[in-house]
Amino acid sequence: MSCCHHYDFIDGNEQIFAVDPSTIRFGRGALAEMGHDARALGLKRVALFTDGGVAKLEAVATATSALRAADIDVAVYDEVRVEPTDESFKAATRFAEEGDFDGFVSVGGGSVIDTCKAANLYATYPAEFLTYVNAPIGDGQAVPGPLKPHIACPTTSGTGSECTGMAIFDLLERRVKTGIAARALRPTLALIDPEVTSTLPANVVAASGFDVLSHALESFTAKPFTQRAAPDSPALRPMYQGANPWSDVGCIEALRRTGQYLVRGVRDPGDTEARHGMMYAATLAGIAFGNSGVHLPHGMAYSVAGLIRDYRPDGYPSEEAICPHGISVIVDAPSVFRLTAPTSPTRHLEAAALLGANTGGAGEEDAGEVLAECIIGMMRDTNMPNGISALGYDDSDIAPLAEGAYAQQRILANSPVPVDEDDLQALYRGATRYW
Ligand SMILES: [Fe+2]
Repeated sequence: MSCCHHYDFIDGNEQIFAVDPSTIRFGRGALAEMGHDARALGLKRVALFTDGGVAKLEAVATATSALRAADIDVAVYDEVRVEPTDESFKAATRFAEEGDFDGFVSVGGGSVIDTCKAANLYATYPAEFLTYVNAPIGDGQAVPGPLKPHIACPTTSGTGSECTGMAIFDLLERRVKTGIAARALRPTLALIDPEVTSTLPANVVAASGFDVLSHALESFTAKPFTQRAAPDSPALRPMYQGANPWSDVGCIEALRRTGQYLVRGVRDPGDTEARHGMMYAATLAGIAFGNSGVHLPHGMAYSVAGLIRDYRPDGYPSEEAICPHGISVIVDAPSVFRLTAPTSPTRHLEAAALLGANTGGAGEEDAGEVLAECIIGMMRDTNMPNGISALGYDDSDIAPLAEGAYAQQRILANSPVPVDEDDLQALYRGATRYW
């Protein structure tokens, strides 16, 4: 159902999809095996990146003692900023440069893993900060070669950053979220221990769980790789190549698990099956979108998070306004899938069914509404904000939000529907309020 007619081969267009695998250890106790893995990578002195909150958790203690038991020197950097900025990336880079490290470990959420990728990059190949940042905001130059080994250990069930070659940050002077995307940034090894989810606040499980849901949905409904012109050389094939049969496999299982476990995992911290199930869903979705890419909800999320004024959700640092990544994504998603459904109605209906919607009797013309309503129902069940108005945005914000999203050309190129700034404004208007 999901594959047969979705990839029509067209002369002159791409015929080949790439599988860039992630090396993964998944399961209870994976963190305690870190010493073995670090030694196998030849590491003798590592920088361990985390943030002030995660630093107090057992995960960091477990990782540190596993490394030290294997006779590996560890220097801990616990000043990673949640929702990092160019300034916080630069501070982390200084730490990476000064310690004479032969490898890196990150223990934390997407912010920590992304910061570690950036510090590894700029310490290995020093350059002006915008050199490797995605065009048109940055210069978009290629990373010159491989980075030092990086073992990534996620402590939230969301970003999938341990499986991707992407590092996201806020560029302060432009008030925009953007990123660095390169295969070289993909961690050498992802150590994923689902035990870490047992202490996560409900709102963190919800926000990161909706990030998983949207990774899988966006990857599944992205512009098919066969609709892209064939590259002039294999080296020019983009890392985010569009929907493809490999990514589809991870998306389908990630959606099924998210439908089964997200609401349960938010409501009951003691529901180990649900929380572990979401961790595996996050990994599967990370593998999928790490090969296919995301599209409009993530492109729109960058300015929703970047322009936030006074939103302070439960479960996150409260010193300053913050819009957690998963929330900035999911508030856009129903509006987007109402627009994109006509490009692949069967896929949109299949996704809704995997998430648990009753699609019996629904026709292709209903696909967008059925999927949107399914997502909205899950948002209501987990106390997510009711659209961008609940984050403090009003009509006067629509134009700057759309302008920020339009700058995310690398992501917009993966959309199944071409969009201009007016279309993005309409999408934000459609995301104002859902119930
Ligand atoms: Fe994401």
